[in-house]
Amino acid sequence: ATAGLGSEIVSVVNKLQDVFTAVGSSASQIDLPQICVLGSQSSGKSSVLENIVGRDFLPRGTGIVTRRPLVLQLINRPVPSSPQPNGNAVSKDGDKHANENEWGEFLHLPGQKFYDFNKIREEIVRDTEAKTGRNAGISPLPINLRIYSPNVLTLTLVDLPGLTKVPVGDQPKDIEKQIRDMLLKFITKPACIILAVTAANTDLANSDGLKLAREVDPEGQRTIGVLTKVDLMDAGTDVVDILAGRIIPLRLGYVPVVNRGQRDIEANKPISAALEFEREYFENHPSYKSKAQYCGTPFLARKLNMILMHHIRATLPDIKARITQQLQKFNTELQSLGGALGDTSSSSVVLSVITDFCSEFRTTIDGNTNDLSLNE
Ligand code: GDP
Ligand code: NA
Ligand code: MG
Repeated sequence: ATAGLGSEIVSVVNKLQDVFTAVGSSASQIDLPQICVLGSQSSGKSSVLENIVGRDFLPRGTGIVTRRPLVLQLINRPVPSSPQPNGNAVSKDGDKHANENEWGEFLHLPGQKFYDFNKIREEIVRDTEAKTGRNAGISPLPINLRIYSPNVLTLTLVDLPGLTKVPVGDQPKDIEKQIRDMLLKFITKPACIILAVTAANTDLANSDGLKLAREVDPEGQRTIGVLTKVDLMDAGTDVVDILAGRIIPLRLGYVPVVNRGQRDIEANKPISAALEFEREYFENHPSYKSKAQYCGTPFLARKLNMILMHHIRATLPDIKARITQQLQKFNTELQSLGGALGDTSSSSVVLSVITDFCSEFRTTIDGNTNDLSLNE
């Protein structure tokens, strides 16, 4: 029941995020908690997010594939007749068959439900190209996508373009700076939890993700290390020293994962098979088998959910104060408009939506905060 209560709070925050995105400029005044991936191009960021969701739907591959921020809200929605969800990435055959209980919705296509996750990927590519062209251009304009599913934990994740150094295609000369600035906009917010992704077959000391994370979070209070491509490390080497905090210690630690390789992607290897491979990899590897329960995607997903809940709880008083402030401002505005009675303009609709969300949010905080225990 405790975990459910936490999820409820996360859901309210997710809804608020949509409202404030719809309102536009006000969004910048309220920083809602979210998890952002940060790392070099092709370090495996999109692959990590996809494995957490347990579905194939993100454009991935070599070169610059992710060219706009993708704000991804996962919403756990249990189905009465189905078994209780026990974490993310549990969808066994879900990536092969369309499932009426799992769908995606884009904020820019209201009311349109995507049950086919390949169509979600196509829409991400289409809208990316519509705003940035086809030739490797980038844009800070986010794509907002919600995924409803009984097989995900409620989380907000942001997929971001990777750090890169040399311009290609239509990219401007200062691409390195442009991407850096775009990433900084997301990760500077104290409410952002940073997933610093580094490929395990590269040197941790050269990690662009960790380096940038350290600039905005020097104490490592909100940075989690994710080590990808553990399967591609040279024989006889492993990440045990990194996990033990002997190389670059992180307060929240590191989680090693194994995602699908480029060949797996080309061969359409199902995500379920990839997760099974990952589990067997860690359970059978001499370096990891004694700590296999702390390795892999399902552990990362559970860890993220707990961290997010702690984080939301810690930032609730601040969020509440800001919302109250906004609400007062809107009320004053409303009064100056003569109560906006009979006004069906979109701005008054937005105002009433915000008012509704604020009261729902207030009930959740005032009603439940004291009972909220984060021990599972
Ligand atoms: P991004 O640019 O950081 O979003 O990286 P992608 O998720 O698009 O992955 C880049 C490439 O690395 C793709 O070809 C993936 O198949 C591959 N890749 C990512 N993670 C792993 C991993 O854990 N193991 C292997 N073998 N390949 C991976
Ligand atoms: Na890539
Ligand atoms: Mg990517």
